[in-house]
Amino acid sequence: MGACFVLVGGRWLWFIFEASFVVNLRMVDELKLVIVNGIPIEPKRSSFDMFMEKKQKMKNHDIFARSFNQHDQKRFGYSALVGCFIVSWCLCTVLKPYFSHLYVLNLRMVDELKLVIVNGIPIEPKRSYVQRMETQLVCNTSARRSDTCEMKGDVRIQGKSSTIYVFKPNAKNASWIIKPYARKGDNGAMENITTFTIKSVQNQAKTMPKCTQFHNVPAVVFSIGGYSGNNFHSFSDIILPLYTTSRKFNREVQFLVVNKVSRWSIIFKEVLDKLSRFEMINIDHEKEVHCFPSMIVGLRKDDRKELYVDSMIDFTKFLRSSYSLERSSAIKLTRNSTRRPRLLIISRNETRAFTNVNDVVLAAKELGFEVIVSEMTPNMTQVSRLVNSCDVMMGVHGAGLTNMVFLPENAVVVQVVPLGNMNWMAKTFYEEPSKAMRLKYLEYKIREEESTLIDQYPLSHQVFKDPHSIQGKGWEAYKSVYMDKQNVKLDIIRFREIFSKALELLQ
Ligand SMILES: *[C@@H]1O[C@H](CO)[C@@H](O)[C@H](O)[C@H]1NC(C)=O
Ligand SMILES: *[C@@H]1O[C@H](CO)[C@@H](O)[C@H](O)[C@H]1NC(C)=O
Ligand SMILES: *[C@@H]1O[C@H](CO)[C@@H](O)[C@H](O)[C@H]1NC(C)=O
Ligand SMILES: *[C@@H]1O[C@H](CO)[C@@H](O)[C@H](O)[C@H]1NC(C)=O
Ligand SMILES: *[C@@H]1O[C@H](CO)[C@@H](O)[C@H](O)[C@H]1NC(C)=O
Ligand SMILES: *[C@@H]1O[C@H](CO)[C@@H](O)[C@H](O)[C@H]1NC(C)=O
Repeated sequence: MGACFVLVGGRWLWFIFEASFVVNLRMVDELKLVIVNGIPIEPKRSSFDMFMEKKQKMKNHDIFARSFNQHDQKRFGYSALVGCFIVSWCLCTVLKPYFSHLYVLNLRMVDELKLVIVNGIPIEPKRSYVQRMETQLVCNTSARRSDTCEMKGDVRIQGKSSTIYVFKPNAKNASWIIKPYARKGDNGAMENITTFTIKSVQNQAKTMPKCTQFHNVPAVVFSIGGYSGNNFHSFSDIILPLYTTSRKFNREVQFLVVNKVSRWSIIFKEVLDKLSRFEMINIDHEKEVHCFPSMIVGLRKDDRKELYVDSMIDFTKFLRSSYSLERSSAIKLTRNSTRRPRLLIISRNETRAFTNVNDVVLAAKELGFEVIVSEMTPNMTQVSRLVNSCDVMMGVHGAGLTNMVFLPENAVVVQVVPLGNMNWMAKTFYEEPSKAMRLKYLEYKIREEESTLIDQYPLSHQVFKDPHSIQGKGWEAYKSVYMDKQNVKLDIIRFREIFSKALELLQ
């Protein structure tokens, strides 16, 4: 804590160092120049307009306002303020041991600010620097699927030791351990996720590593390991929680990622660009100490729901704009319409494949569909365009169905559910999310004779009679039977009903 007093035109102009790392400038009218340790920065006029709106309100609370009336403040001109800041600069230099980590400048109520220099680090005045500097550390480790910490103030991250430091002058030393991937409790997903230690420290100089890179935007730390090789999990565990966490920053946010999978950031480039205007930093093994005014570690995910954010409608709009998709609503069939609705059949050629896809295509064409059969490649630009161009999308339960996020509203999703007591997954992963996106949902549960498992097991086998007992043997045992060894041969006569219903839903 320190204060600086400068004699100006027979009056004392003063400002205060809040804690040891914040210089708080108050009520400075017609400020043209600010110098603290070195480099000129041109502030944007627009950034300061909003201060003025708040001015009246703030005046009553402001310490400075008590010492000066409106008229006096207006009298302070260019040279007086330059003098003040040069003195403050000297003071800072003299007091350098105590202010060695000075890098946040908190500007308030500044008219016509022309120049800001902070410790040799160029800072464009932004809203975040205008708000009152506060230190904060809030961790929530009681949610079911994710642990998160939010901090404000002097926050530093050292990638190579996976340690994050947050300065809390008046709190006891404390630390938290966080794996920033939203599938807590699932060992397969969490096992290899980098563990971060978050330390709240009282003494900056002694316990915090020296900053080597400064950022003036918030940071979000998350892992792109876990199940990110799977499209459903990429959306449910990462993209959607990331959207919820970072959308509010309006691209003014730095992503710090761990456990990078080489292709992931290429696959989701469009979405990432829309959420942050900065290139993401791989913070694993990073030697530099990156410093931020605030940070969120871990992404918040709903405790029970999958593929979920508060407004899925807003999310799908966001996706359509990220990928420049044209259609916001599906075809509306009228009695006279000559246009044919487009049906996309998601084909899988390794597991859970349709074995009689040609028959399915024929049946659909007879009923008036234009039919596209396609695998879902990892090229999101291509896939999003294809899916968005369709009115009905059908597929066997699996990650390919996640691409329904690109469908236009009111389009129809048809989930074909194979054997294996998959009702809970079918409902949680695709039915509920599709409804939240204002899509129409149809489900087709296959019968035993439509599953290729009948070629592998006798009908009396527990695979048919008691899927529950196979579930009891664990995920791997379950997956190897129902997910990996099962293909689907649709009963065309029965399935035609689904197509007819889909046509009705498009009316
Ligand atoms: C932590 O998260 C859980 C689940 O989202 C929530 O119910 C709880 O209120 C949160 N706790 C705090 C202290 O915010
Ligand atoms: C906090 O931790 C630092 C470094 O580990 C130590 O020097 C200091 O004494 C601790 N303070 C308290 C109050 O425990
Ligand atoms: C975690 O990493 C180890 C070592 O590379 C590997 O053997 C193991 O299979 C990984 N676990 C998961 C769930 O990917
Ligand atoms: C459909 O066609 C009939 C006759 O061909 C016509 O009377 C009717 O107005 C048309 N309806 C629409 C909605 O275009
Ligand atoms: C699917 O089949 C195509 C050839 O038709 C092949 O190139 C591709 O690798 C296969 N996909 C998978 C996941 O095996
Ligand atoms: C994805 O597909 C688009 C359109 O076909 C193409 O321009 C782009 O290069 C592809 N991206 C990648 C990463 O392959």
